[in-house]
Parts: sequence; structure tokens; C-alpha cells
Amino acid sequence: MSRAAIAIGMVLCLAGSAAFAADPSFTDKGELVRPPDYREWVFLASGLGMTYGPNRPQAGQTPPFDNVFVRPESYREFMKTGRWPEGTMFMLEVRNAEENVSINAGGRTQGSLRAIEAAVKDSKRYPDGGWSYFSFDGPQGLKESTAPFPRTASCYACHSRNGAVEWTFTQFYPVPFEVAQKLGTVRKDYDPARKAE
Ligand code: HEC
Repeated sequence: MSRAAIAIGMVLCLAGSAAFAADPSFTDKGELVRPPDYREWVFLASGLGMTYGPNRPQAGQTPPFDNVFVRPESYREFMKTGRWPEGTMFMLEVRNAEENVSINAGGRTQGSLRAIEAAVKDSKRYPDGGWSYFSFDGPQGLKESTAPFPRTASCYACHSRNGAVEWTFTQFYPVPFEVAQKLGTVRKDYDPARKAE
């Protein structure tokens, strides 16, 4: 083999492993591995005290914040096409809202972590709709890896019915939502006036 061929081979190899390293990672049992670096991903939006399904504030508790992050590769692709590509992964972080921290006298700031959930698009692994939902919360703190929720879990019903782009709540992420509206990838059955059941 010529030196050039070896060099090209090495470059392809490196490119291949880089692409692989960036994909959502699963254990042999099909559990999703918690990405240690998700806070370096693209930040999409925060919701304050959103009430829908899980993580509702309990009585007397300050409504929590949630922060949504998406893999940078998926974000870049979405900004060009208005579609979330295969391998897209979102992380949703729920944090307590706090009052009167440090010099703050009014308003609310983000405090400790309450929950981490995830969504992955992988049509081969999840042929029934392409998306799957996960929680990394466990009795002993955050789990290193976690199995998907069964298709009967509430996540699927709400996301598949109410998400504006496929099963995602892109309507709450202002910058990607503008792109989806411009490129015509918002679901035809998305009705901004409809409330979740
Ligand atoms: C009743 C509706 C509803 C249910 C049930 C629900 N979600 Fe969501 N989910 C939402 C909304 C609304 C958002 C947007 C959050 C924001 O704007 O901060 C969201 C956002 C997310 C996101 C960010 C990516 C996206 O799709 O926009 C993840 C991950 C997520 N939810 C996971 C879950 C999991 C896991 C479950 C099941 C245990 C679940 N959700 C159940 C309404 C729901």
C-alpha cells in the first residue's frame, strides 16, 4: 500500500470514529448512556413552572425551571433543513427555582437538580415512530444508563400528539421554531390553540 493510501485510510478511520463517538451511546442491553457533557450542547430554552405530565410542582413548592439541550450536530442539521436528523438527542433538566439567593431580592434563580430526562431519534432501534424517551433518575441519584420507557408511558402519547415538529416540542424553542416555520416542517396537524388532555 502506498503512503498516500495509508494516510487516506487513517483520515477515514479518524473521521469514522469521530462520527461514532458523537452518536448517542447505548449499552449491550439497549440502555442509553447518560452523556457526561450535555451541558456543552446547544441550549434551546428554559421553561418556568411548566405544568404538563411529569414533574409537576407539589403543593407549596416553587414551580421548577426546565432547561433543554440538544446535540450540536443535530442542531446544525436542523437549522439547515428544519428536521431533526437520525441520532438526535435531547436532554431535559429540571431544576428547583429559588428565591432570595445571595443579593437577589425579587425574581427566581435556578438551584439544585431535580430530574434529567432524554429523548432520542433512532428509527432502526425504535421503528414504531422513531423516538424514544428516558429518565436518568434513580433511587441512588442519577443512573449511568437507563432503559427506554415502554411505549405505553405517557411521554409517547403527549409528545406524539402535541409536538410541533415530529414528536418534539420545538414550538417552545424559539430559534429552531422560526426555522421550522420558514422551511415548512411544522406538522400539518399542529394547532397552537389546542391544550394537552
Ligand atoms: C402532557 C405532555 C407531556 C408529557 C406526558 C411528557 N412531556 Fe416531555 N415535554 C413536554 C413539553 C411541553 C416539553 C417542552 C419543555 C420546555 O419547553 O421546556 C417537553 C420536552 C421534553 C424533552 C425535550 C425534547 C422535546 O421533545 O422537545 C424531553 C427529553 C422530554 N420532554 C422527555 C419526556 C419524558 C421522558 C416523558 C415521560 C416520562 C415526558 N417528556 C412526558 C410535554 C410532555
